[in-house]
Amino acid sequence: MQKNINIRDFEMEKDFDWIFLLDRCVNATRYRKKVQEEIQNYSGDIYVATINKKVIGFISLSYPFWDKVAMIDYLAVEENYRKQGIGRLLIHHVLKRAQELSMRYVCVQTGLWNLGAINFYKRVGFSLRGVFPEYVGEGNDMIWLDIDIRKYPLQKQQETVINKR
Ligand SMILES: CC(C)(COP(=O)(O)OP(=O)(O)OC[C@H]1O[C@@H](n2cnc3c(N)ncnc32)[C@H](O)[C@@H]1OP(=O)(O)O)[C@@H](O)C(=O)NCCC(=O)NCCS
Repeated sequence: MQKNINIRDFEMEKDFDWIFLLDRCVNATRYRKKVQEEIQNYSGDIYVATINKKVIGFISLSYPFWDKVAMIDYLAVEENYRKQGIGRLLIHHVLKRAQELSMRYVCVQTGLWNLGAINFYKRVGFSLRGVFPEYVGEGNDMIWLDIDIRKYPLQKQQETVINKR
């Protein structure tokens, strides 16, 4: 794990260019204007991970369903910084936030093709809840995962993260 990783609130003017590049890891074909509008109108919270002020990852949390369920809509870590615990750190940050808001579950959906992300979510404690066949078009299934925050050892995870740094 690299030192001096900071997680802070996203700032549109300062951070949009960075997160647009990161978003392209997942959605390579999306136009800048479309992503900009989407982020501007996003109703949840966005956080960025930085090293020496450079944004190297981001995550979001929204509250679209019931009063106990939050949803991760965006998560990406820059390729050169992957497999160093930054994704886990970002997840930890939003789980802590969800706990502060008295949420019970945090859920996420991703394409069934995205095996890397699915394995990552399982490693950090999410469970598979279901598959929506052909959710985004023919042959494009969507997978649904969630985590019960009450069962997530926030304190222990924090220690693990700190020990790894
Ligand atoms: C998914 C992603 C955010 C993971 O970030 P990361 O910083 O590499 O993850 P971490 O280093 O914190 O990994 C945490 C654990 O997951 C595991 N993991 C991470 N990526 C994995 C992969 N592709 N395959 C299998 N396991 C993986 C790590 O080995 C680690 O396990 P450990 O705790 O046993 O050591 C990153 O790969 C990414 O940005 N992918 C592209 C964008 C994307 O697909 N986002 C999800 C959209 S829903």
